[in-house]
Amino acid sequence: MPLHLLDHPLAAHIITHLRDKTTKPATIRTLAYQLSLLLAIEATGDIATEEKVIETPLESTRGRVLAHQPLVVVPILRAGLGMVQPFTDIFPDVSVGYIGLERDHETARARSYYCKLPPLQDRHVFLVDPMLATGGSAVQALTVLREQGATDVRLVCIVSAPEGVAEVEKHHPGTVVHTAALDRTLNAKKYILPGLGDFGDRLYGT
Ligand code: PRP
Ligand code: URA
Repeated sequence: MPLHLLDHPLAAHIITHLRDKTTKPATIRTLAYQLSLLLAIEATGDIATEEKVIETPLESTRGRVLAHQPLVVVPILRAGLGMVQPFTDIFPDVSVGYIGLERDHETARARSYYCKLPPLQDRHVFLVDPMLATGGSAVQALTVLREQGATDVRLVCIVSAPEGVAEVEKHHPGTVVHTAALDRTLNAKKYILPGLGDFGDRLYGT
């Protein structure tokens, strides 16, 4: 599977503070923004550019600008919302779709409660969710996106478990996954170890 592990000293610094159980929601939101910005830059490293001739104050020169190609970012609610703003900040024309999934606390199975998506055909789609644990949520969301016509979907996560990566590869082989950390395993309640706890709760103080 094309698994890309973000390798940057700043990413390591941010992850360590996200993992720290004493870090408060306001700081978690800032750190999630910063890390998602690094991930967004990494995950869009191959998007197309085209030549543009411009005039500097001194002479004419050739540069490159982003080619017109619609991008779509889709957060898995609710924790994925904490990763959207970096995409909309650096790509102002990006469309935003939403997939609402919530894991059952007993079974860890994700239940769908909302879905609103823009057109996905011929677009780079970035599915964002901070935690890839069992992979159940990501697999469901990827299935929805493919049913709606997406052919190029990249999954962007903050912390991933090997079990989740394997589950995505099993159901959606070849999916590109960008993650800032690949952790050890899941515990009996399907939380990531060492992980950072429940991301949604830590992001929103619930
Ligand atoms: C968390 C997380 C992922 C999911 C990952 O969301 O944001 O969506 O769990 O677990 P999985 O890989 O085992 O499916 P949660 O269901 O807790 O909902 P929330 O974002 O509303 O807190
Ligand atoms: N969802 C989270 O928020 N954290 C985990 O460790 C697993 C799923």
